[in-house]
Amino acid sequence: MLAENKQRMLITGASRGVGKACADYFRDKYQVITVARTGDVTYRGDLTNLEFLKKLCREVDADILINNAAVYGKDFQTTIDLNLRATGYLLSEFYKKMTTGHIINICSSSANSTGWVGMPPERIWYNALKSALKTLSKHFADAKLKNVKVTSIEPARINTAIGESLIAVSEEEYSKQTLPWIPMKPSYIAEVIDWILSQPAHVVISSIEIQNFKKG
Ligand SMILES: NC(=O)c1ccc[n+]([C@@H]2O[C@H](COP(=O)([O-])OP(=O)(O)OC[C@H]3O[C@@H](n4cnc5c(N)ncnc54)[C@H](OP(=O)(O)O)[C@@H]3O)[C@@H](O)[C@H]2O)c1
Repeated sequence: MLAENKQRMLITGASRGVGKACADYFRDKYQVITVARTGDVTYRGDLTNLEFLKKLCREVDADILINNAAVYGKDFQTTIDLNLRATGYLLSEFYKKMTTGHIINICSSSANSTGWVGMPPERIWYNALKSALKTLSKHFADAKLKNVKVTSIEPARINTAIGESLIAVSEEEYSKQTLPWIPMKPSYIAEVIDWILSQPAHVVISSIEIQNFKKG
């Protein structure tokens, strides 16, 4: 299909991890527009910068937004600026701008967690802000103000190097570890998104939690 006939998919946080896997997976099907601070992306910039967010909203027309960029294990200001302020801004502004299409917010199963004794502060911020993003997403999905579908995806552990404490390792390496589960491949999230986007026009998957299951 000619590029100009393809639907446009905007993916944030597309220099590695889930965003990169989505860009690779969807490149043939959609006209993919990618955003990150580094790497081979269409728009290089910092999503915690309001001027950069405004520029994206001004310049990019998207049929599908994968609202994916986030940090884990950072200080409160950085976490709230990216994980809620930037994602919330993009969700709201693209919802306003789009006449039809789909916004997919990458949340986390952490959004559904009630916390635990000894939970470190950076984990509290991450979980609470993912929970806030999920609520925002769900309200847009439920409001149905226009012909734009909104989905929150809430995965558990994915095999990426998000945060300093988490590293992406090979599946073979994981199978040797004592962990009772194996993280999902980032490309699996792209497959789930593909399935969500292919639902009939009269339904929307507004929220989906994906848990890791035991090894064997
Ligand atoms: N990995 C997991 O176990 C897991 C589980 C549940 C949910 N999630 C969610 O899945 C999504 C993707 O996570 P991931 O694991 O793929 O993370 P990742 O590998 O660390 O990738 C994060 C992406 O966000 C970009 N980014 C970070 N800060 C940015 C900023 N200020 N401005 C612009 N781009 C920025 C990074 O690119 P640059 O550094 O080049 O800017 C990178 O492309 C996130 O929403 C995360 O919360 C992850």
